[in-house]
Amino acid sequence: MDAATVRSWYGTFVDAVSALTGSPDGDGGADAALERSGAAYAKLTDAVAEAMARPGSLPAEAARGEAGRDGLAAAEVVANAAVLMFGGIDTTEGLITNAALHLLSDPALARAVRDDRELLPAVIEESLRTEPPAAVVDRYAVRDADLGGAPVRAGDLVRVSITAANRDPAVFADPDRFDPHRADAGEHLAFAHGPHFCFGATLARLEARAALGAVLDRFPGVRLDPGRPARPVGLVFRKPDRLDVRWDAPSARPRR
Ligand code: HEM
Repeated sequence: MDAATVRSWYGTFVDAVSALTGSPDGDGGADAALERSGAAYAKLTDAVAEAMARPGSLPAEAARGEAGRDGLAAAEVVANAAVLMFGGIDTTEGLITNAALHLLSDPALARAVRDDRELLPAVIEESLRTEPPAAVVDRYAVRDADLGGAPVRAGDLVRVSITAANRDPAVFADPDRFDPHRADAGEHLAFAHGPHFCFGATLARLEARAALGAVLDRFPGVRLDPGRPARPVGLVFRKPDRLDVRWDAPSARPRR
C-alpha cells in the first residue's frame, strides 16, 4: 500500500470530522463527506485484514496479544490504525513546517544549524514550545472542580490550550521569544502529559530531525520566499498551509 493512498484515506476522515463538527466542507456537503470516508474506512479495513494475515506484522501482533492480555479484535486494530493517522500525520507535518519556518526566519540561526546539526534538536524543541502542532487537547471532568477560579462540573468538556501552557510566564522567561538556547525548552507540553503522553513523540522528533536536515543538505542557501510570507493557522492543528522557499541552483557542471 503506497503512502499517497493511505494519505488520501486520512484526508476523507478529516473531511468527515469537519463535516460532523460543522466546519465548512467545500466538497459536496456532509453526506458526501461521510460516504467518502466510509468507503475509505472499508479500504483501510481490508488493508489491515491483509496485514493481520501476515505473521509478525504489527497488526498481527496487536491481534495476537501476549501472556495475560487478550489481543485486539480486528475492528479494534482498524480503529487504532485510524487513531494513529490522526495522531501522526497533521501533527508531524505541523512540527516540520513550523520548525522550518522558525529556522528560516532567522538566517543566522539557519547558517549555524547548517554548520552544526547538533543544534537542530534544540530548534525543534523550541518550535514545539512556541508553536505546538496540536494546540489544544480536550478533557472531560470526572468530578466538580475549580480551575483557576472557573467552576467546572463533572462531565463538562474542558478544552486545554497547550499553546497557552507553553507560554506560561511562571515557567518560561520571556515566553513569547523564540530562543533555541533556553535551557528549559524541553519542559513544554506539546506532547501532553501523564498517561496519555504522546505515543509517537520520539518518532515525531526523529522525523523532524531527518526532514529538516535533508532540506538543509539538499537545498543550498534555502531561505523563505520574501514574496510569499507564511504563518501558522488553525485552532487545533496549527501550521502554515504552505511554506514557499527559494534556494540556489547548483552551478551547472562543465561538460567534458
Ligand atoms: C509533532 C508531532 C506530534 C504531536 C505534537 C503530538 C501530540 C500529541 C498530544 C498532545 C497527545 C495527547 C492527546 C490527548 O491527551 O488528548 C498525543 C497523543 C497521541 N499521539 Fe501524538 N503527537 C505527535 C506525533 C505522533 C505520531 C508520529 C504518532 C504515531 C506514530 C502519534 C500517536 C499518538 C497516539 C496514539 C496518542 C494517544 C496516546 C494515548 O491516548 O495513550 N503522535 N499526541
